[in-house]
Amino acid sequence: MSKKKNTPWICLLLLLLSDLLIISSFAHEKPKIFIVHVSKSNKPSIFKTHLDWYISTLQSLPSSPLTSSFGDHLNRPSREIIYTYNHAIHGFAARLTPSQASHLRSLHGIVSISPEHTHRIYTTRTPQFLGLNDHSGLWRISKHGEDVIIGVIDSGIWPERQSFNDSGYSPVPERWKGICETGPDFPETSCNRKIIGARVYYKGYEEAMGMPVDADGTESRSPRDTHGHGTHCASIAAGSAVSNVGFRKFAVGVAKGMATKSRIAAYKVSWTFGIVTSDVIAGIDQAVADGVDIISLSLGPGQSMKYYDDSIAIAAFGAMQKGILVSCAAGNNGPAPMSIDNLAPWMLNVGASTIDREFPADLVLGDGQIFAGASLYSGDPLNQQSGAYVEVVYSLRNKTDRYCSGGSLNSTHVSDKIVVCYVGYDTNAADQGTAVKSAGGVGMILIDQNEGELRARSYPIPATEVSLSSGSKIIEYMNKQYSNGQRPTAIIKFRGMVTGSCSSSAPRVASLSSRGPSQVVPEILKPDVIAPGINILAAWTGFGADPANSEEFNIISGSSMACPHVSGLAALLRSAYPKWSPAAIKSALMTTAYNIDNSGRYITDFATNNFSTPFQHGSGHVNPNKALNPGLVYDISPSDYEAFLCSIGYNAEQMSLFAKDKKVDCESIKSSSPGDLNYPSFSVVFGKTEKFKYKRVLTNVGSSVNAVYNVRIRGRTSFFKISVSPTKLVFTKDKTSLPYEITFESKLEIPATEKKEAFGSIDWYDGEHVVRSPIALSWGITNSTNFISSF
Ligand SMILES: *[C@@H]1O[C@H](CO)[C@@H](O)[C@H](O)[C@H]1NC(C)=O
Ligand SMILES: *[C@@H]1O[C@H](CO)[C@@H](O)[C@H](O)[C@H]1NC(C)=O
Ligand SMILES: *[C@@H]1O[C@H](CO)[C@@H](O)[C@H](O)[C@H]1NC(C)=O
Ligand SMILES: *[C@@H]1O[C@H](CO)[C@@H](O)[C@H](O)[C@H]1NC(C)=O
Ligand SMILES: *[C@@H]1O[C@H](CO)[C@@H](O)[C@H](O)[C@H]1NC(C)=O
Repeated sequence: MSKKKNTPWICLLLLLLSDLLIISSFAHEKPKIFIVHVSKSNKPSIFKTHLDWYISTLQSLPSSPLTSSFGDHLNRPSREIIYTYNHAIHGFAARLTPSQASHLRSLHGIVSISPEHTHRIYTTRTPQFLGLNDHSGLWRISKHGEDVIIGVIDSGIWPERQSFNDSGYSPVPERWKGICETGPDFPETSCNRKIIGARVYYKGYEEAMGMPVDADGTESRSPRDTHGHGTHCASIAAGSAVSNVGFRKFAVGVAKGMATKSRIAAYKVSWTFGIVTSDVIAGIDQAVADGVDIISLSLGPGQSMKYYDDSIAIAAFGAMQKGILVSCAAGNNGPAPMSIDNLAPWMLNVGASTIDREFPADLVLGDGQIFAGASLYSGDPLNQQSGAYVEVVYSLRNKTDRYCSGGSLNSTHVSDKIVVCYVGYDTNAADQGTAVKSAGGVGMILIDQNEGELRARSYPIPATEVSLSSGSKIIEYMNKQYSNGQRPTAIIKFRGMVTGSCSSSAPRVASLSSRGPSQVVPEILKPDVIAPGINILAAWTGFGADPANSEEFNIISGSSMACPHVSGLAALLRSAYPKWSPAAIKSALMTTAYNIDNSGRYITDFATNNFSTPFQHGSGHVNPNKALNPGLVYDISPSDYEAFLCSIGYNAEQMSLFAKDKKVDCESIKSSSPGDLNYPSFSVVFGKTEKFKYKRVLTNVGSSVNAVYNVRIRGRTSFFKISVSPTKLVFTKDKTSLPYEITFESKLEIPATEKKEAFGSIDWYDGEHVVRSPIALSWGITNSTNFISSF
C-alpha cells in the first residue's frame, strides 16, 4: 500500500442528479482526512481504551501549523480524530497533513492509511415485472420481510412519505440497537416502526468542502433527505404499498417496494457536492453495530480500486463477517468494458436493466421521419390545436454550446423554436429545459451521449430525449434543409406511458450500466446480476430547486435503482432463511437468474442491440420466486474469502485489513488460484496457461435431503473445452455438501495474440431445479497476478 501513489482526487458526480462536484485537490501540506486502519491487538497495555491509544499516537506526530491559504477552509487543527471505527473496520479517520500521515504509517500497529476518496451515487411496476405477488412465492413465504432490517447508506430519508407508513407493523425488533438522530426538521416522530433508525454523517464532507454542510441553506444536518436519491432507494428496497400513485399523470398504480414490510435504517452520507469515504465508512460501521441485516449501497468510488485500497470493500468484509449482506450498484459508466467498480467477491454487485414500461415521446420531423424519444413532460403539447410544425434550431448557430447551459442561448435565435441540445456528462436535463424556456424556446430535443435506453425525465417545456444515432439523423436533416434554403421543422408526439409493449423487449441491459471484466481480479466475474434500473418510480423528497422535487414520487434511472431492488429481495430471502450466510443468499439470487427476455430471446444489450454477455449481465436478471427455491447453493465462509485473498498474493499486512486481529498464514493455505473461490460464476483468464482446473462445492438446500443432480455444459466449443468431474452429484442426509472439479482448456494458441471472449454456462439440474452458473473465458487480458505486480 505504501508503495502505491496516492490516487488523485477525482471530481465526481451524483450520477443521477448530475450535480457537479467542486471538491478539488488539496495543496501538498494541507491537512486532510485519512482513513487509518489499525491492528487492535497491538494496543499497548498502558492505554485503557483504543481511543486513548489513537489520540496519544496522533499527539506523538510532529505538529504542523495549519496555514490556511485556501479561502474559507475550516481552521481546524490537524491530528484531530473525526470518526473512530470499531465494527466494520478497526481504526479511525483523522485530519492529518501528508507528512504526518506518512509518519503515522511507520508506527507499530498501524496497518494502512488511505486518503479520503470521493464517491458517486450511482417503482409501481417492478414487483409485477419481477413476478412478485401476495399469494405465492417469495412474498408469501418471507411474510414480506417484516423481521429484517435494511441499512440504506445514501442521502437520508423524507420520512413523511406514504411509502414509510408503518400502519399495521409489529413492534421494532428487540435486537435493534440503532437510534433516530433528531434535528429541527427531523423530530422524533420521523422514525416509526418502518423507519426504525436514522443517522447523519458529514464531518468528512465538511472537511473536503471547507465549509459547513448547511452553509447555503439547502442541506440539512439531520437525516432528512434534501436530494431524493436516498428516499427513492429506501422506498424501492422496502417501501410500504401506496395505492393510486404515480409521477404526474404517469405510472399510476400501486407503488410498493420489494420487501414491503422490512424495516429501514437510513444513514445519510451523501451531500449536494459528493460523498467522501470517511462518512461512508462511519455509516457502514454504525449500521453493523446497530444490527442491520442487509446494507444497500447505491454508491461507489467510480474507479476500480484494489480491495486493500478500497475502504468500502474492507468495511463490507467486516459486515460480511457478521452475517450482513452488502448489496451495491455496479455504477453508471457503461457501455465501456471494464467500467465496473465495487468488485469485491463478498459484495453483491447489481447492474441496471430496463423493464417493460416506456414513456414514449416521438419526434416527427418536417420531412416525415419519426424518431423514438422518451419524456415525462406532462403539460400541454406544442401547437396542440393546430398540430403545426415548429422550427428547429441548434442551441447556437455555430454549435459551440451543445449543452444549452443557462445564459448561453441567444433569444434572437431560439425564441419560439424547438432547440436541439445534447446531454453532457454533468448536465441536468431539467435545467437545460429551464434554460431553453427562459431564452424563449418552446421545445427541446435532447440528444443522448450514447446509443441505448432513453431516460424519461420531466421538463418545464415540451421536450424529448433521443438517441445519439437519431440525433445525427436529425442534424443531417437540419443541414439538408439549410443547404436547400429551407427551415427545419418538427413536432413532438407525447404518448404517455406504455407497458408490456412489443416495441422493445424487456429486460435489456441498460447502456449506462457499468460492465466487466473486473480490472482488479478478472477471475471474479462482475457484475453479479442485473435488476430494474431504468425509469423507476419511487418515493421522492419534498423540496429543492428541481420542480420534480415537489412530487410525492419521482421517476429516475441508474444502477442506483437496481441495487435496492436486489437489497430488498435479499431481505426477503434473509427472512425466509434466517440461517443462510450472505454468500448463500447471493448464490440463490445468482444461480436462479434468467437470461431470456419477454420475447423469448437472450437478453440484449441496449448499447449494441447484440445479445448481452456475462460481462454485462453477470448471472442474469434476478428472479425472486426462483431464488426462494434454488436447490443448491455455493456457500462461502469468511475463511474462504481469506484463502482467496491469499491466492491473489496479499501479504500479511494486507490480510490483516480484512481478517483484522485473526492472523492468517497464507503459506499454510493451499489455495492455488483465485478461480478456486467457491463463487457462483466463472471467469477464466487464459494468460500463459492453457488449462485451469477449479474446485467448487455445492450445498443442498432443497426440501429433500436426497437429491440427484446431473450436469450440463453450454457454450460454443470451438475456442475451448470444458469438462466436469463428477458429472453426477448424489446428495443424502449425510452428504449435504459435495465437491466437483471443472476444467477449462483453451483451444486457441496460448499466449493469445489478440483479445477474445467466449461464454457458456454450467447447469446442475435435478428435474425440479436448475442451478446455473455463467462462464466467461477471456484471452489476451491480463490476469490478477499481473495487475497486482504492475499497478
Ligand atoms: C397510514 O396508512 C393507514 C392505512 O392505510 C392510514 O389510515 C393512515 O392515515 C396513514 N398514515 C399517515 C400518516 O398517512
Ligand atoms: C461561436 O459562438 C460563440 C458564442 O457566441 C463565440 O464565442 C465563438 O467565437 C463562435 N465560434 C465561431 C467559430 O464562430
Ligand atoms: C444574438 O444574436 C443576434 C443576431 O445574430 C445578435 O445581433 C446579438 O448580438 C446576439 N446577442 C448576444 C447576447 O450575443
Ligand atoms: C455485435 O454483434 C456483431 C455480430 O456478431 C458483431 O460483429 C459486432 O462486433 C457486435 N458489436 C459489438 C459492439 O459488440
Ligand atoms: C498470470 O500471469 C503470470 C505472468 O504471465 C503467470 O506467471 C501466472 O501463472 C498467471 N496466473 C494465472 C492464475 O494464470
